[in-house]
Formats: sequence, C-alpha cells, structure tokens
Amino acid sequence: MVNGNGKPLKSKVSGFHELNADEKLELIKKFSDLTDEEQELLRKTGALDINKAEMMIENVIGTTEYPIGIATNFLINGRDYLIPMALEEPSVVAASSYSAKLARPMGGFVADADEPIMIGQIQLVGIKDLREAKKNILLKKEEIFDVANKCDSILVKFGGGVRDIEVREFETSRGNMIVVHLLVDVRDAMGANAVNTMCETVAPLLEEATGGKKRLRIISNLADRRLARSKAVWNKDDLGEETIEKILDAYELAVNDQYRCTTHNKGAMNGIDAVVLATANDFRAVEAGAHSYAARDGKYRPLTKYYKDEEGNLVGEIELPLALGLVGGATKTHPIAKIAVKILGVRSTKELAQVVASVGLAQNFAALRALATEGIQKGHMRLHARNIAVIGGAETREEIDAVVRKMVEEKAINASRAKEILEGMRKRS
Ligand code: MEV
Repeated sequence: MVNGNGKPLKSKVSGFHELNADEKLELIKKFSDLTDEEQELLRKTGALDINKAEMMIENVIGTTEYPIGIATNFLINGRDYLIPMALEEPSVVAASSYSAKLARPMGGFVADADEPIMIGQIQLVGIKDLREAKKNILLKKEEIFDVANKCDSILVKFGGGVRDIEVREFETSRGNMIVVHLLVDVRDAMGANAVNTMCETVAPLLEEATGGKKRLRIISNLADRRLARSKAVWNKDDLGEETIEKILDAYELAVNDQYRCTTHNKGAMNGIDAVVLATANDFRAVEAGAHSYAARDGKYRPLTKYYKDEEGNLVGEIELPLALGLVGGATKTHPIAKIAVKILGVRSTKELAQVVASVGLAQNFAALRALATEGIQKGHMRLHARNIAVIGGAETREEIDAVVRKMVEEKAINASRAKEILEGMRKRS
C-alpha cells in the first residue's frame, strides 16, 4: 500500500495523538514529503499559539490564517460599527462597505433578533401509543424543566434555562417515534454544550414517561427560534431607477430558480460567514441553519427579499437563524476572535446577530447591484489579479501594482503572463 506521494507509508498511525506537535509534524513531513521550509511554515503559528490550538482540537500540527478586513460605514440601529471579516475572497469586504455607505443616508440598517432560544432534540423509539406517550411527557413537564435546569446553574443564574418543551410524533418505516424538543434560552452562548447536556440528562425521564428507548440527544442546527433580521433602504436617486429594476429582476430569478437562489444565498453567506469566522463562531452551524431555513416550506428560497417602497426606493430585508456565541466557546479563547469582538463592540449575542444579519444583507445587495450593472468581474478581477501577480512571483507593492495594471489592461490575468511581465520589468530595471 502506498500513500498519496507514492511512498509505502500507512495513514494508520497508532499513538499519533500522544506525540507532541513537533513530533506529529516530523511524522507528517515524512509521510507527505514536506520540505524543511514547509515544516517551518507550519511551525510558525501566529497569535493562536500551538498550546492554545492544542486545547481546541486534536492532533494539532499548526494553525492557519485568513486575512481580516474591516467593513466600514455600517450604521445599525443608529449605532456605528466597524466590522471585522475573515475570509479569502477578494471584493467581499469592499462590497459590504459600499452597500453600507449607500444605505447610510436612509438611516442604515434596522435590525432585530429573537431571544436566544435553541432547540434540543431527544429521540425516543419503540413507542406503543403515541398519544399516551405525549400526554405522559407533558405531565412530567415541570420535573423535566427542573432536571434540565440543574445541569447548568450558571446559565440559569444569568437568566437562561429551559423555557418550554414540545412533543413531535412520527410514524416511520422503523416504527413510531417521538422527538421531544427542549427549548432552551442559552443567553450569550451558542448553546450546543448546554443543550446537549440537558438532552442527555433528561432522556431517562422521557424513557420512563413513554416506555420508549432513547436514541439521539442533540441540539438542532435549525435554530428557527433564534432568528435575526435586518432591513435597509437604498435611495432611488443614488441607485438609479433602472438599477433598481434590474436588481428586482435578479431577485425574482432567485425566487423562481433554485440554481440561482443557491448563488444568491451564497452571496449573503459571504458576508455572514466572514464575521462568524472572525469571531471564531461555529460557521458550520450557521451555514446548516441558514440553508435549512431557506428551504423551510419545502422550496429553497432566498434569505433576502427586495421590493420598492412608495417613493420607489429599494428596500432589502434578510431573515435567518443565527446561533452565535460570545461566551463558552472559541470566541472567548481565540485571541484574535476576542479582539474582533472588541472591535465590533457588541454587548450580547442578539446584538452580534443583528450585525451579522446586516452584513449578510449588505453583501447580498452589493452582489445583486454589481451583477445587475457592470457584472462582478471588474471589481473582482482587480483583487484577483493581485493574487495572481503574487503567484507569478511579484514581491514588492510596486511590482504587484505594475503587474496588475498590465494584466488588467491586457485582460490577460493568469500566472504565466504575470511571470512574463515581471521578468520583463526586472530585466529593464
Ligand atoms: C460570489 O462569491 C458571490 C456571488 O456569486 C453572489 C451572487 O451571485 O449573488 C457574486
């Protein structure tokens, strides 16, 4: 058996987790033929040092970095925000800032967010009588609340805890099932740990009540009790009536066509994920929740909505679940995430969700405006060209600028042309 590099080495490494980060890296170096330089780069961690990284996940050999850009101009609920966004894609930060700037004269973004209620699911199988089981669960409601709340006295002290339970019945090909939803106010946490612990703790009580057997006990990432919304108005005199019509045409396609709608929502997620990542929140949870919410009525729909107000200005709205945390997760331990939160100046996860939703709307609006007018490649290509110039070997800012200028002028943006231009420049100087 050989590995990806054609070497007779196996990926089954016993005791890998017991090695320290350097030893792990040494092994990876051999397995994957890393050069000394590559090994050194992996060793060179940034603000998140190797010890902190090892507290976060297993088998750590290094850390990775993304640029953090600041989106400017955001006025949300009358408050000014500078918004850190972490991502690898050019144009996103500039586009968000541009949308926010255009929205400012009309008051910026008006946002709100629900109370931070997360849903925990407890699955019970082998239920003989669904109605009887449901009745018995509801009779035990108070006891279930008590037992669940005892799992997290700190959460309860801060005003959180179980708010309600719901019982859902399923007749499935594997027999009757009941799923109990614990609705938990998780305050400023994302909530997965608190909710999962509660689900596991109350499950035996539910077995007793139903005569069924517990199976899954886990949070639902469809956090549809924890929605965030934002709205902005873009003035028709700034945008132009023709552009507004074109944006509405673009939106209408997303409403009617799933292929377009996926990309439409991706544009919103460009902004959302970037803030979620900068604050070290769980972007997989946010992504899963957003797309599931977009398909909540069986048809995949846009997360945003556009229409004209009475004066003919363009109104944009967004609504999506945002399960974000400020306490109890990486947001509190990742040194850069902590600074990102400080830059944002948000005081609660509700406020963070309002900001994130607003960035999602701004980003989606910017994409639609660009697509409806000059297309996105013009703005995109300039930044993309910078990356290509670097890949082609440009090192200084002057070299990068000159290579980009020439490639854009020639409309030939690729690494081999970048290399040729650079060689020509270097020969001449
Ligand atoms: C690219 O990352 C995002 C867009 O494709 C979004 C959209 O098409 O609406 C520009």
